[in-house]
Amino acid sequence: MSRFHKVGYVVGVLITLALVCQARVHSHGGFVRTEGTRFVLGGSSSLFNGFNSYWMMHVATEPSERYKVSNTFREAADAGLSVCRTWAFSDGGDRALQISPGTYDERVFQALDFVISEARRYGIRLILSFVNNYKDYGGRPQYVEWARNAGVNVNGEDDFYTTPTVKEYYKNHVKRVITRFNTITRIVYKDDPTIMAWELMNEPRCQADSSEKMVNGWVQEMASFVKSLDKNHLLEIGMEGFYGDSMPEKKVNNPGYQVGTDFISNNLIKEIDFTTIHAYPDIWLSGQNESAQMAFMQRWMQSHSIDSKGILKKPLVMAEFGKSSKGQGYSLGARDQYLSTVYQSMNNFESTGGGISGSLVWQLMAEGMDSYGDGYGIILSQDASTRGVISAQSHKMTTFRHMLLGRKHGKSVP
Ligand SMILES: *[C@@H]1O[C@H](CO)[C@@H](O)[C@H](O)[C@H]1NC(C)=O
Repeated sequence: MSRFHKVGYVVGVLITLALVCQARVHSHGGFVRTEGTRFVLGGSSSLFNGFNSYWMMHVATEPSERYKVSNTFREAADAGLSVCRTWAFSDGGDRALQISPGTYDERVFQALDFVISEARRYGIRLILSFVNNYKDYGGRPQYVEWARNAGVNVNGEDDFYTTPTVKEYYKNHVKRVITRFNTITRIVYKDDPTIMAWELMNEPRCQADSSEKMVNGWVQEMASFVKSLDKNHLLEIGMEGFYGDSMPEKKVNNPGYQVGTDFISNNLIKEIDFTTIHAYPDIWLSGQNESAQMAFMQRWMQSHSIDSKGILKKPLVMAEFGKSSKGQGYSLGARDQYLSTVYQSMNNFESTGGGISGSLVWQLMAEGMDSYGDGYGIILSQDASTRGVISAQSHKMTTFRHMLLGRKHGKSVP
């Protein structure tokens, strides 16, 4: 090839690559946004049916186990699931992403690269959480322990929210993840539309006396920090939905106690794009009978959908719910019945004016993952009846999307 031809060849390759990249981004529909109480994707209002699989990065760290990640995404996509929530943390301990403050294991980061790359391949968007409230995979306790080991004066886990050194550790982790260059997709995380949203913490809780003020201050500071680094992606807190002292009359909806957070005031923070609830009546109301638990569930969903719409004016996602095989009177049929009742309630809210824009069942697993099991695991390739319930809900969400599209187009007709 002459030098001239070589230049032409290189330019041609570059143009082709650019077109391919653009097509991939377009086929993915761009970044998910919000508009009022709705998610918007590619200019249209969107609702989704999704799932949790917290274990993705941890499992993908072992190359021989990566097929479990791929299988789960493939089976989920086949069942019409389009959003997956998973951990972008593992602090200290086995297969740690962050070995110690600011020190990362490149092998584990590449596992997270793989998870994102596979999600993209199967057309699934991710909600990535930055830290755990609990000690599993490090969490708040690990961060406070790191500070103590560095000679910082800390008393307990709740100092996580206020100790400057700990807040710097957390911010550093957030920055490392958001600015990470994906070695497989060659896209920096903050520029990747495969990621639907960031989550500040899985289920923030706090026992301190002034807990609600502490958590609120922390959410405000960290939400501003995330948005200063990344304006492409949505952000949510990771809350379970407990009501607090800003609107005491709402506390009747709590399962009889508070956890130091405030669904209203925390989610009023401007940088938070959508609200979340988790729901475990089988644990939260373990002393009560099935019908009392189901009644709680209905109230929990309804009150939050009303408040998210009326007071907060943001979309609501039911980000965790499920039924444990360890519970009393468990059977596969009971689990299917429970899931379909929850879906049905959600759909009723939607039919009567809108309420919950998406749900994430807890949790999908692949075959051969017993050591990760927590009683809630659903294996789509094995549990045909549960798969049927989940697929039916995915179809329902598609129907709702089409109805919203019809309403929007209907408006533009004179
Ligand atoms: C369940 O418990 C409630 C009180 O919490 C009671 O009113 C109701 O009758 C009970 N239902 C059954 C089926 O036992």
